[in-house]
Amino acid sequence: MEENKKTLYSAIQPTNSLTIGNYIGTLRNWASYQNDYNCVFAMADMHAITVRQQPAQLRANTLALAALFIACGVDPDKCTFYVQSHVPCHAEMCWALNSLTYVGEMERMTQFKDKSKRHADNINMGLMDYPVLMAADILLYQTDVVPVGLDQRQHLEITRDIAIRFNNAYSPTFTVPEGIYAKVGAKICDLLDPTKKMSKSAENPNGSIFMTDDRDTVIRKFKRAVTDSDNCIKYDPENKPGVSNLLAIYTTFSGKSMDEAEREFDGKGYGDFKLAVGEIVADKLAPVQAEQKRILDDKAYLQGVLANGAEKAYKVARKTLSKVYKKIGFFQA
Ligand code: TRP
Repeated sequence: MEENKKTLYSAIQPTNSLTIGNYIGTLRNWASYQNDYNCVFAMADMHAITVRQQPAQLRANTLALAALFIACGVDPDKCTFYVQSHVPCHAEMCWALNSLTYVGEMERMTQFKDKSKRHADNINMGLMDYPVLMAADILLYQTDVVPVGLDQRQHLEITRDIAIRFNNAYSPTFTVPEGIYAKVGAKICDLLDPTKKMSKSAENPNGSIFMTDDRDTVIRKFKRAVTDSDNCIKYDPENKPGVSNLLAIYTTFSGKSMDEAEREFDGKGYGDFKLAVGEIVADKLAPVQAEQKRILDDKAYLQGVLANGAEKAYKVARKTLSKVYKKIGFFQA
């Protein structure tokens, strides 16, 4: 790792297929962070099991996600790229930090409350401990910055609290991480309910474009996207959420400005507009999908990459964990 660069940590859970919203908000950014930071990127499979997963599906999703990231430009030689469960330090650090975390704090976390409602039959200890595992992820690598979306801000805050608490209780040990709030990319909304964020777990999959959707599916979903009745292609998220969402997707995928896009579609009907959006998205997805497939078909390569990544991650993580074990008084032979 280069000493003069700050360390950036990010992870994503290998659950469901990712959507183009994840692509804009996360996938694309990971590749672009690589030159400016020492990047540590993980597939957070240990977080994933806090809600029920089909084992075969989890396994397949983990590999598919890894291949997708590489297809999107993550270069395993430039960063540390690994599967969370391959590095035992995460669980160990989580345990150490658990004793510095209060039950009340965890009960108050917004995501815990939400997920407890959604999975009322499975409010398990892992779900409650989720933020501490996340703190372990981040603190193990002496992370300076964590790119966070709105939904993860509270988790970063608690990570900072835990780090400061540990540093005060013992002596300075952890870097206290800062959040970076990703480039204001457009927020991509559901095609059928443009007041909601596009989600990989939406009830109706027709409102989301998945990274795995083929061309026909992409075009069909855009054809059915909700618009409005005044047949005017203008960016006005307040009054025209459907059309504005499509324009946001179009500009993001084409690289054109909003002005340019509005001029391009001036006087055109919604039918033509939706087709154009569908086509530009399908055109962008096709090469990524082909590359993902090529990588997935090369199992030996992918396994090698992940084994290497785990080894690289382990070296850094073990060093921090050893410090922690020493400070908390674990006898070290
Ligand atoms: N909880 C994050 C999510 O679902 C994934 C995650 C796990 C993460 N560990 C992390 C994100 C550490 C940033 C840093 O999006």
